[in-house]
Order: sequence, then C-alpha cells, then structure tokens
Amino acid sequence: MNYRHAFHAGNFADLVKHAALTRLMQRLTAAAAPLLVVDTHAGAGLYDLTDADQARSREAEAGIARLSGLDLPPEFALLKQAVDSRNGGGAVRRYPGSPLLVCDALRRGDRYIGCEMSGEVFARLGAVLRGTGKDARGLRGDGYEALPQLLEDAERRLFVLIDPPFEQADDYLRIVEALSEVFAVRPDAAAMVWLPLKDLETLDGFVRRMESAGLPEAVVAEARLRRLDNPMKMNGCALAVFNAPDGFEHDLRAICRFVVQALGEPGGQAKLWVA
Ligand SMILES: C[S@@+](CC[C@H](N)C(=O)[O-])C[C@H]1O[C@@H](n2cnc3c(N)ncnc32)[C@H](O)[C@@H]1O
Repeated sequence: MNYRHAFHAGNFADLVKHAALTRLMQRLTAAAAPLLVVDTHAGAGLYDLTDADQARSREAEAGIARLSGLDLPPEFALLKQAVDSRNGGGAVRRYPGSPLLVCDALRRGDRYIGCEMSGEVFARLGAVLRGTGKDARGLRGDGYEALPQLLEDAERRLFVLIDPPFEQADDYLRIVEALSEVFAVRPDAAAMVWLPLKDLETLDGFVRRMESAGLPEAVVAEARLRRLDNPMKMNGCALAVFNAPDGFEHDLRAICRFVVQALGEPGGQAKLWVA
C-alpha cells in the first residue's frame, strides 16, 4: 500500500469533500438523536503542509492556499474555521482531515470510529483523536471488513464516510458491497462516498453497479476542474450522498460551483444529479 494522503492534503478534492463533510455534520447534529460516524478510510487526521513530502507535491498550494484572500461562500465557513483554528488564524501550515472535522462537530453522546490500514498513519490518527476530548477512536485494519460489526450500535443514528485511495481496482466494487451491507441493516443511514473523476465511463460504471445492487437513490455532486478528455489526469472529483438531510443538496451545489470557479480551468463544470 503506497498511498499517502499527506501528498494530497488540502488539494481541491479535499476542499470539496471537507466543505461538504462539515456542512453534513452540522445538519446531522442538528437533530437531537445521538450520532455514530464511521469513517472507513480515516487517514492521519491532521497534515503538516510544511513537511518535505508536502513541499514536493504542492497540491495544497493549488487548493487551500489559493482560498486565502478569496470571498468564500457560507458553505465554506465551517471548514475555514476548522483550518484557521489549527493555524492560529495565520498562513495554512496544518490542514485537518476528516477525523478532526467530524470530531469538531460531535456532541456529548455522539461517537466517531475511524478505520485506518497503515500502521504509521494509524499511530498518528490515534494521537490526533486523543487530543479531541471527544468519544472518538481509531480502529486499525480494513475499513470495509470492519464496517459490518460497527453497524450494531442501534442506539445512534449512523453516518458512514467512505473515502478510499482508489489504488486498488476493486475499490468501486467494495464500496458498493459495503453500502449494500449498511443499507440492509440500517436503511435510514446517511452515507457519503468520495470518488475521483478521470473519465465519465468509470463514474457511470460505478453508478450502474449501485443500481444493480439495489442501493437507494443517491445525490451525485461533481466538481469537474476541466473537460474530462484526458483519463490519465484527475480532472475532478465527485461525492455520492445517500439519505442526504434536507437542504444538503443546496450545499453540495454551492461547494462544487465555488471550487470549479475558483480553482478550475476553462471547460470546468459543476453538476448535481440523482442516481
Ligand atoms: C484518501 S485517504 C483518507 C483521507 C481522510 N478520509 C480525510 O478526508 O482526511 C485514504 C486512507 O485510507 C487508508 N487505507 C487504504 N486502504 C484502506 C482500507 N482497506 N481500510 C482502511 N484504510 C485504508 C490509507 O492508508 C489512507 O490513509
């Protein structure tokens, strides 16, 4: 397993995913019932954008760094607050990942479980989660395999975040299998899947797989930074959201539009549709 999210932290795709995640958490925690969040691919939780790897990849420079000084739409306010609070309001050196963004929103009675396969990343995740003071723990291992046992907590509403590296050809298949298990046991669960956008055929194939598995309807939000005519490049990203709370479609549309407009190239496009 070679994937290291540290190379990509704070890039345009993180901005789409994390702005959406903060708004989704705000909406899910507006209801009184306690919430369990399962993050199948948690990552380290906090990334140091000044370390040597980051300086080499420079993805944050074309992402979070370009947002400073821009007039951000309200859908980015929570993400901005989360980033600012880890940087003393100054230049962005540290960038929070999904575990911290979820923990920021957790209330007493809510719980976060973040699965992580890599031992080194898991150790960093553990330290980050301990510092939150929330009911949050890491689980070392395969998030897809761990998921079924984590569905047994019937006391809490469930939100599942699936954000794999897509290094393995079977990620698309395993996502659909995992979602099938989730909705068989918890039909009312909310779920959000992050997807890379290189070409449309791969996204179509995933949606066809969702349909044949009988998954519930999903809202798909696409942020295409440029035309999808070079499948060797990451041309954008998409989020598929199941059982989205009321009003969340509006957030998704605004987030994708803003990222395309601020960071995209000619031919870029934001799209929202129901699969
Ligand atoms: C895209 S990153 C996650 C980023 C994180 N969700 C965030 O938004 O900050 C994917 C992570 O999944 C881990 N990983 C890869 N395969 C996994 C698996 N089968 N189960 C759990 N973690 C896995 C990688 O080590 C990596 O840290």
